[in-house]
Amino acid sequence: MNDVLAKSRKIYVTRKIEFNAAHRLFNPELSEEENQRIYGKCSGLYGHGHNYVIEITLSGIIDRTTGYLFDLKALKALLEEEIVARFDHRHLNHEVKELERSVPTTEVLAVTIWDILESRLETITNKEVSLHEVKINETGKNSVRYLGE
Ligand code: NI
Repeated sequence: MNDVLAKSRKIYVTRKIEFNAAHRLFNPELSEEENQRIYGKCSGLYGHGHNYVIEITLSGIIDRTTGYLFDLKALKALLEEEIVARFDHRHLNHEVKELERSVPTTEVLAVTIWDILESRLETITNKEVSLHEVKINETGKNSVRYLGE
């Protein structure tokens, strides 16, 4: 057999997940007027919802034995447990302890998800696999990418 894995191959593997959640963009350190100016209708008192679509990308060297980078069944289970269970059908300002004291913009959410996943992945992956990117599509038109920098 032509052993394509005879040399190390760096690869990127992405899993998509979805959840819906409410948030309000409001910084309590600023006045009502400033919040209104910065966040507009996104600062409305009762919040509003989004259907978030998240793409999690791992990178690393393909395992020579399995041919996988990382078992996608295991990644699916991990994302359900760490991300969907934590955020789905929540109000991000009030019900997620990792977001307490932050304005839950998509940027902040991306970094928060990165931190949650990185600390979890550290415990279960070998050094050949790492978190590469968290991408959040907040709407069909707006997305944010965080690469851990
Ligand atoms: Ni919003």
